Amino acid sequence: MNARYRRLQVALQRARLQAIALNPGPSLTYLTGLHFHLMERPVVAFFTAEGQQAVVLPRLEAPKVAGRDALQPFFYGDDPSQWQAAFREAIAALGLERARIGVEPTRLRVLELRYLEAAAPHAVFPSAEEVLADLRVVKDADELAAMQRAVDIAQRALEAALAGFRAGMTERELAAEVVVQLLRHGSEPDLPFQPIVAAGPNAANPHAVPTERPIQRGDLLIIDWGATWEGYFSDLTRTFAVGEVDEELARIAAVAAQANAAGRAAARAGISAGEVDAAARSVIAAAGYGAYFTHRTGHGLGLDVHERPFIFGGNDEILRPGMTFTVEPGIYLPGRGGARVEDDVVITAEGARSLSDLPRALRRLE
Ligand code: CO
Repeated sequence: MNARYRRLQVALQRARLQAIALNPGPSLTYLTGLHFHLMERPVVAFFTAEGQQAVVLPRLEAPKVAGRDALQPFFYGDDPSQWQAAFREAIAALGLERARIGVEPTRLRVLELRYLEAAAPHAVFPSAEEVLADLRVVKDADELAAMQRAVDIAQRALEAALAGFRAGMTERELAAEVVVQLLRHGSEPDLPFQPIVAAGPNAANPHAVPTERPIQRGDLLIIDWGATWEGYFSDLTRTFAVGEVDEELARIAAVAAQANAAGRAAARAGISAGEVDAAARSVIAAAGYGAYFTHRTGHGLGLDVHERPFIFGGNDEILRPGMTFTVEPGIYLPGRGGARVEDDVVITAEGARSLSDLPRALRRLE
């Protein structure tokens, strides 16, 4: 954790920020290992470029920060009229009354920002989104081990869920089974997202929500699921044939798997994220389905389900060893069905290694 904070200090100085203010979420976990739930009561931690750390939090959370001598706590009680004072004391103790304090616009809520602005009316609060993304984008060995474990849990859980599959069960029933098996196989309860189980025409929607529709013979079935280990996520997708599917549905499933393979094969250090997208997309375009691949090829993965690097056409971010992201091309035929194959890969010195290895060819379920 200290090494991470030292890297943050350098990055803050470079960005001319005197501090960052974080509320509960992946960046706070990354820097401290602390987990707080986002509640109606604000929790805000400060990290200064000079190396001082403080946190404003409800007194009932005191046990969580006990023994962390470097982190100076500013507690408040149940009466909301006291909360502002805790923010003022923290800002004064850190000398941030007139500072540039970086925040995460996609995380920090109006709730916390109002307290910060009132405590430091002469400070400014620019986005530190990129500073933090830069810190987190290359994973170390511990992070990769956690992600591998999240993948292993997810793969075993899916096999267990499929063992209970029968045609005629609803998407929701199968989704529930996937969740149960994820937890039973050791996933932390904060799943990266609710599994997507989408069959038949529902599979033509990349972000489908499981419905009461029974999964029928002749359907393509998309399952998009993931597990959590030490806060790190996996995010996988496989496509299945329920009984016999028609020729074109079998074809799009095969093309999606080929596009996934092409994306993984292209991925390596020194090329751009956009080139990975192009490698996967060109396979689908060549098969005549370019118009039916309606989303980016992938996204970075780690303590967030969607983080840098984003794998979209034209993105010139250069891939580096230790970056982790999904490769998940899909083809969606409105009203008929869809297919997607998603793996989690890490850039290595030699190329890219997939953390996931479940068979990708269309597998038939009965
Ligand atoms: Co994904």
